[in-house]
Amino acid sequence: MAKAAVMTGIDQPLEIRTDIEVESPRAGEVKVRMGASGVCHSDLSMQNGTMMAATPIVLGHEGAGVIEEVGEGVTGLAPGDHVIISWVPQCGECFFCTHDQPQLCEKANIALASGGLLDGSTRFTSQGSPLYQMAASGTFSEVTVIPAIGAVKIDPGIDMKVAALIGCGVLTGTGAALNTASIRKGDTVAVVGCGGVGLNVIQGARIAGAGEIIAVDMNETKLQLAKQFGATTSVNASQGDPVSQVMDLTQQRGADVAFEVIGLPQTIDQTITMTRRGGQAILVGVPRMDVMVNLPAFFGVVLAEKTIKGCWYGSSDVRRDVPKLIDLYKKGELKLDELISRTISVDQVNEAFDAMKTGEVARSVITY
Ligand code: APR
Ligand code: ZN
Ligand code: ZN
Repeated sequence: MAKAAVMTGIDQPLEIRTDIEVESPRAGEVKVRMGASGVCHSDLSMQNGTMMAATPIVLGHEGAGVIEEVGEGVTGLAPGDHVIISWVPQCGECFFCTHDQPQLCEKANIALASGGLLDGSTRFTSQGSPLYQMAASGTFSEVTVIPAIGAVKIDPGIDMKVAALIGCGVLTGTGAALNTASIRKGDTVAVVGCGGVGLNVIQGARIAGAGEIIAVDMNETKLQLAKQFGATTSVNASQGDPVSQVMDLTQQRGADVAFEVIGLPQTIDQTITMTRRGGQAILVGVPRMDVMVNLPAFFGVVLAEKTIKGCWYGSSDVRRDVPKLIDLYKKGELKLDELISRTISVDQVNEAFDAMKTGEVARSVITY
C-alpha cells in the first residue's frame, strides 16, 4: 500500500489516501519508488479544471525516484537505478521520434489523452476502483508504475529534489529557450511569467547568449528572483501596460524573442504584441482548452512577419537534454537549488497549491 494525493473532482482539495494498491509493472514498464516531486502549475491546472482530467486521478508529473521493479522485456534499466520521469515518454521509433521531435511522440499522446499508461490502463487502485495517473506519471504517490520509455537514468549522486525539477519545469523552460526558439547572441528576450517554468526560460536565454532579458511578472518577489536567474531588466505588469513598458525598453521595436509562460489569453496577446516585426513569440503556458489566439492576419502576421510557435515540453529530447542539463548544473551554469522555495511532505500538497496561487514560491518540492 502506498500513500498518494488523489484528485476526486474539480476544485476539490486533493485527498491524501494511504490505501493505494500499486500493481506490478507489466511488459515495458517500471515501478518507481519516488524520491521527490515538484508541484507544478499544470498540477494546479488539472485540479482547477483549466486542463481536463479523468477522475479520480493521482496528480504529479515532475518527479524522480529509484527503480524498484522492471517489467518483462525492459532493457537498460534495473532495480536500484535512479531515474527522472519524462512525462512525455519518448519511444524513439514513431514518426515524430524519428523526425527529431520526440516531444510529440505518438505513444505519449495515447497516455496523455487516456489518463493511463501506454495502453490506456492504469496501475493504481484505491477504495475498490482504479485511479488514473496524470501524464503517465502520478508522482504524488510514494510508488508509481510508468512506461520504461518514460524513465531517464541519471547519476545516483544527483539530489532527488533537483532531479525532480528537471523532469518538467527545467526541461520545459530551458528547452523553450534552447530548443524551441532560435536565440541569437545579443538578442533582446522578454519572458512573461517568472514562475518555476519562466525562471528556467530566463536561464536558458542567458545560456543561449541573449543580450537583454526582460522579466515580466506582477509579483515583485518573482521579479527579484528573475534577476538571480539572469534577467537584466524587469517589468511589473501590475504597474502599467507591460507591452508599452517592453516597447519603451526596445526603441519601440519589441523583443526579438518573447515567451509566454502563464497560459492566460491576455498574456498570450501581450506576448505576441511585444514581439518585434520579424521576431518570434513562443507560447509555453498551458491555457484553458477554449482559449483562441486572436491576430489580425495582415498586420499581425503577414506584414509583421512574426513567427508564433507553440512549445511542448521545451521541444526536449529527454535522452539528449537531461544529461546536458545535469552537466550545466554541475558546472554551475544552471541554477537548480535556487528553484526550491519549500520542501514539504505529500500531505501538504494543498498548501503548495495555495502558495502557488499567491505567487509566494518558485517551487514547492515534495520529498518522500
Ligand atoms: N501578468 C504577469 N505575470 C503573471 C500574470 C499576469 N497577468 N498572472 C500570473 N503571473 C505570474 C505569476 O505571478 C507567477 O510568477 O506568472 C507566474 C506563473 O508561475 P507559476 O504559477 O509558478 O507557474 P509555472 O509552474 O511556472 O507554470 C507556468 O507553464 O507548464 C506551464 O501549466 C504550466 O501554464 C503553466 C505555465
Ligand atoms: Zn509541469
Ligand atoms: Zn515516439
